[in-house]
Amino acid sequence: MQQEQFEYDTVRFKSVGLRYGNGPEILQDISLTLTPGSFHFLTGPSGAGKTSLLSLLYLARRPSRGSVELFGQDVTSAPRHRLPAIRRRLGVVFQDFRLLDHLSALDNVALPLRVAGASEAEIQRHVPELLSWVGLASHMQAKPSVLSGGQKQRVAIARAVITRPDLLVADEPTGNVDDRTAIRLMHLFREMNRLGTTIVIATHNEQLVRQMRHPRLHLEGGRLSILQPEEG
Ligand SMILES: Nc1ncnc2c1ncn2[C@@H]1O[C@H](COP(=O)(O)OP(=O)(O)O)[C@@H](O)[C@H]1O
Ligand SMILES: [Mg+2]
Repeated sequence: MQQEQFEYDTVRFKSVGLRYGNGPEILQDISLTLTPGSFHFLTGPSGAGKTSLLSLLYLARRPSRGSVELFGQDVTSAPRHRLPAIRRRLGVVFQDFRLLDHLSALDNVALPLRVAGASEAEIQRHVPELLSWVGLASHMQAKPSVLSGGQKQRVAIARAVITRPDLLVADEPTGNVDDRTAIRLMHLFREMNRLGTTIVIATHNEQLVRQMRHPRLHLEGGRLSILQPEEG
């Protein structure tokens, strides 16, 4: 079993470039390997291309050049019908949440479980527990329109983690919550990581990056560098 787990890297970029339309390359010649169970932060100034890079990971875009492999499969050349099976192994926290407005917090979080064919009993067992854990016990029936930015963000995080994805991609997932809540959410990610989920988190929160001591993917001027946590 152990052997099988490590047959492929979770993510592999080979000389990836990305441009929008005829514009300049936002990402230039990025090569990157993320091994199963790794935990990386993604940093860089606003506009550096963090969301663009993550969108390659969650299959919203294809690169302009180079190749992207997820779970050992080249998604740049894969036929469209292969992508849903790969998507089901991903959990994504979008910067703008992307909750469904007509569904309650509980139903938003339950949705990926329902899509995966989970029973109602399972849903009723797991979803309220997770929503309580992220501090939304009294908002389970609330629609997104009545939730604050920080509350919506926590619903989005719960929805991304409820299926225990193999790869979690989160775009500034603590940008709308206070420091205490941010640390609590980071513990959730850390716990998932302990259970085997590979994690990539774009963040501006320098304090969190320093505290958590995970390696950092740093984007600047279209280039990616990998920085190990500082000693001490
Ligand atoms: N859909 C798009 N069309 C054209 N340009 C885009 C699009 N999305 C992002 N960009 C541009 O790509 C650059 C990187 O953006 P983004 O990936 O959002 O950076 P970050 O998340 O680091 O702030 C910016 O210059 C931005 O204006
Ligand atoms: Mg962004």
